[in-house]
Amino acid sequence: MKKHLLFCLSMALLIASCAQPDNDIEKRIDNYLSQMTLEEKVGILHAQSKFSSAGVPRLGIPELWTDDGPHGVRPETLWDAFASAQWTNDSVTAYPSLTCLAASWDRDLAALYGKSVGEEALYRGKDVLLGPGVNIMRTPLGGRGFEYMGEDPFLAAEMCVPYIQGIQSNGVAACVKHFCLNNHEVNRHTVNVNVSDRALHEIYLPAFKAAVQKGGVWSVMGAYNLYEDVHCCHNDALLNGILKHDWGFDGVLVSDWGGAHDGEQAARGGLDLEFGTHTNGLDAGKKDAYEDFYLANPYLEGLRAGIYDEETLNDKCRRVLRLMMRTSMSGDRGFGSMNSPEHWADARRIGSGGIVLLRNEGGVLPLKGTPAKVVVLGENAIKPMAVGGSSSSLKAQHETSILDGLKAALPGTEVVYERAYQGEPFITGYNYSLYDISDPRSSEKLLSDAIAALDGADYVIFVGGLNKGKTRDCEGKDRLDYGLPYGQDEIVEKIAAVRPDMIFVNVSGSPVAMPWINNVAGIVQAWYLGSETGNAMADVLTGRVNPSGKLPFTFPKALEDCPVTTPEQYPGILGEDEIWQSYYTEGIYVGYRWYESRGIEPLFAFGHGLSYTTFEYGKAKASSRVMKDKLQISVPVTNTGDVAGAEVVQLYIADKEASVDRPVKELKGFEKIWLEPGQTGTVKFTIDREAISFYDEEAHDWKAEKGVFEALVGAASDDIRTSVEFNY
Ligand code: GLC
Repeated sequence: MKKHLLFCLSMALLIASCAQPDNDIEKRIDNYLSQMTLEEKVGILHAQSKFSSAGVPRLGIPELWTDDGPHGVRPETLWDAFASAQWTNDSVTAYPSLTCLAASWDRDLAALYGKSVGEEALYRGKDVLLGPGVNIMRTPLGGRGFEYMGEDPFLAAEMCVPYIQGIQSNGVAACVKHFCLNNHEVNRHTVNVNVSDRALHEIYLPAFKAAVQKGGVWSVMGAYNLYEDVHCCHNDALLNGILKHDWGFDGVLVSDWGGAHDGEQAARGGLDLEFGTHTNGLDAGKKDAYEDFYLANPYLEGLRAGIYDEETLNDKCRRVLRLMMRTSMSGDRGFGSMNSPEHWADARRIGSGGIVLLRNEGGVLPLKGTPAKVVVLGENAIKPMAVGGSSSSLKAQHETSILDGLKAALPGTEVVYERAYQGEPFITGYNYSLYDISDPRSSEKLLSDAIAALDGADYVIFVGGLNKGKTRDCEGKDRLDYGLPYGQDEIVEKIAAVRPDMIFVNVSGSPVAMPWINNVAGIVQAWYLGSETGNAMADVLTGRVNPSGKLPFTFPKALEDCPVTTPEQYPGILGEDEIWQSYYTEGIYVGYRWYESRGIEPLFAFGHGLSYTTFEYGKAKASSRVMKDKLQISVPVTNTGDVAGAEVVQLYIADKEASVDRPVKELKGFEKIWLEPGQTGTVKFTIDREAISFYDEEAHDWKAEKGVFEALVGAASDDIRTSVEFNY
């Protein structure tokens, strides 16, 4: 009888609580907490399967489902393994990589992206989408550069916030990752990162801080690596200190899969929800060993023994229940949608908005009129790219290749394709898609056939680059060198010798060496564009879309020019205690901050990107000579060409009288402005003391010093058009 009464009471409470508006979430949580047993509380703090954690069936609390991210919703895996479950209804829209989104410098596009991919997650029954990744690109060799948002903390912060808000507008949680300092893949589970407080706060934390304080992100994923000798997934200083206390994060800290390594730290170090497989989440152990996770039976036994306090337990549970109330138990979040023409249009728009025109000698692009013959070369013109890259790999419902996109866009043109080289004949992604693109010809024959096809071509487009295979833009494996694989450089040289007007389309999510740069007329940075690859690229190459992307990271000429060149810096060295140590001795000098401080000229600068039109900048004006709280910088910009286009106007701030060493300048604003031919628009930036501050390691806080500053406005970090000084 008692059980029956208890059940009726809990159902009554549940019905009552679901009917209440969201702002009673805390009351609903109190209700549930008051009814949950110790076992049930611990039960919601760890995985029950590869991508889900348990609910409380007795109280009608559903299980919580997560999935990767960030470029689309990952196909279903087995209950207890990453292997594909071979479902037939989990193909999705593959969106462009986040590096492409960052390259758009378009906050509205980021919001659209988040809304769109969040609808697919909702339709697939996911409560948490594991993305965005916002770790800063510190070395071009980092395996996951394609998944992240470039080398600048301000750009990554500004672009991740609308993406997060877009996802969460669906009642699906975003999960910003990997917090923090996961800047390369070698020894990612074991490397202890040594970094100055100033670099930590000025370079590596800002995007996460914006995700929490501006984006209101509902979950954060801890990184695999260590910081101050403690794994980030249960690092008290980072999680309880900075994330939860200093920043006021009220969501859930999720471990990366297998990122927990210590029971005591997992209990006390700020971890709320432990994911992984097997016992300690990482090492092979008993199958379905979820009960042996650190936040499972070991934690329960510690609570029963009085080793761990119930207050901390309740805080973890409150956070997880809050995440559930915002998602699986929100009651009014609709059903989402998937593989819709709208989503394909979104993917296409994000792709063409992020494509960067790097070089356009003689105005070789866009393709003029209806060419009689266009020759398309290179494996990446036909290779599916949604698959690959490891956890962000996708099963795309469709993926239009660059070759197909060009054929569709040029119906009256003879489009001839030649492989020119063979890289990977097969592609598999978690065994859910095997593409056989093998070619029996020898490499000599492949090249000679390509050269022979050039005859009479109006245009030659070579599509090369990387391909999300291991060591070629892939999680878990950094790149082994800075050059293009498969001997592409030699092939490009030979093609360019015949056709110096050729166009190179670089498919990659990180910078690559281009020793042949002066031998080709056009270079386009294509990123990984997802389902609508071919259409997005054809839109730009034909001029249907005027390219407006700008690089979110620098293309150095050579790896030796990079800020990270010693083994201590990367990948790190093995210390006496057998712990891998990586020393970020370059400090705040990452990306353009480094190259400009050392006067090193890059191949292509941060913020670089050409257009099919031209823009002229007027004189920058400051709303006052002295900044009190805020200051407005305004600049008139005119489209002086003959086609409409968008310009990303960038604002950098230089501290002319700093008491500490500071970069030449730092990005502190950007606006994308669309202008018709002849039209002038005025771009306005409002800055405050945050834009002129540096992190003071003595004071452990940000500091804005009195003195003279300069606002520099331009089309790229190496293309400043106007500036104005002001005092603070
Ligand atoms: C991976 C990745 C993380 C991903 C998670 C689940 O190891 O580091 O980004 O979300 O595990 O697949």
